[in-house]
Amino acid sequence: MSLKKKVLVAGASGYLGRYVVREFKERGYFVRALVREPDKLKAVGPNGEPAVYDMIDEIVIGDVTNHESVAGICNGMDIVFSSLGLTAPHPKLTSYDVDYLGNKRILDQAISEHVSRFIYVSLFNQDKMPGIPSIKAHELFAAELKQSGLSWAVMRPNGYFSDMGRFFSMAKSGHIFMIGEGEKKINPVHGADLAKVCVDAVEGECREIPVGGPDLFTFRETMEMAFDACGKKPWITSLPFWLAEGGLAVTGIFNRNLSDLFSFAIEALKFDHVAPAYGTRHLKEFFAELAAKVH
Ligand SMILES: NC(=O)c1ccc[n+]([C@@H]2O[C@H](COP(=O)([O-])OP(=O)(O)OC[C@H]3O[C@@H](n4cnc5c(N)ncnc54)[C@H](OP(=O)(O)O)[C@@H]3O)[C@@H](O)[C@H]2O)c1
Repeated sequence: MSLKKKVLVAGASGYLGRYVVREFKERGYFVRALVREPDKLKAVGPNGEPAVYDMIDEIVIGDVTNHESVAGICNGMDIVFSSLGLTAPHPKLTSYDVDYLGNKRILDQAISEHVSRFIYVSLFNQDKMPGIPSIKAHELFAAELKQSGLSWAVMRPNGYFSDMGRFFSMAKSGHIFMIGEGEKKINPVHGADLAKVCVDAVEGECREIPVGGPDLFTFRETMEMAFDACGKKPWITSLPFWLAEGGLAVTGIFNRNLSDLFSFAIEALKFDHVAPAYGTRHLKEFFAELAAKVH
């Protein structure tokens, strides 16, 4: 009989989820992955996140918005890790449907299955942006998890390199529209560095774990670095917050889901996001890797 601990990774096809799958495997766990499209796992992701198809012990195809498709998902598992979330606008689904209700479907089963730990990935600075729909949904779930009676950890990362990858894509096109002056600071974290902290969170007391990366930049500096990596002269146009928020209000009339997700992107630029530093990977190298893929 195997003594390997078993973990369910929900969100396994995402940026963070793939690094977490790899980290659990490297530490000797049996990994069950919940995914919608297994083939996605066969290729390296858009921000260099690894192809993990061959590492996974058991793939379960399911969509958390469909209860039947995830029935039994926690059976036999010791640990549940979820970085499952809605990170792009969807025509019908909201953050509440996916981040809250979807994760709750997993939690209910984790409770019946008496798993020994549930690790959930929420966000940093949640208390500064309480009205933003995606934050509300993450926090509603985090609150349920804490009251579930299970042993828990809530990860609070501030920003992933994949998020900074958006600046790289814009810099590649030659121009970035920035909301505000970009003077607020962030120390973003690489998925592989964050994955180590997530897997370390299996042990120890129930706790919140704020996580950032090793280097601190202003948002403007990250954009300039993205231009540098593309070999382009920085061309950044600053838009005032009132204009972006006006645009958001108009978008909201036609597309509520799109405006809800954009509201986070705008609000986040109003604060510093300086979280305790972990890891060894640098944003400059990440941009250089993206640039090498392009050329
Ligand atoms: N990006 C950041 O800077 C940042 C910072 C702090 C916190 N976070 C949070 O961290 C979490 C993970 O972020 P990420 O960048 O790794 O996101 P991601 O790459 O978009 O991954 C999200 C994962 O959730 C899965 N998923 C979404 N809806 C699903 C559904 N209905 N049923 C089953 N699976 C579903 C996706 O599957 P598919 O591949 O099939 O779409 C994917 O595996 C999110 O909750 C995000 O809000 C992100």
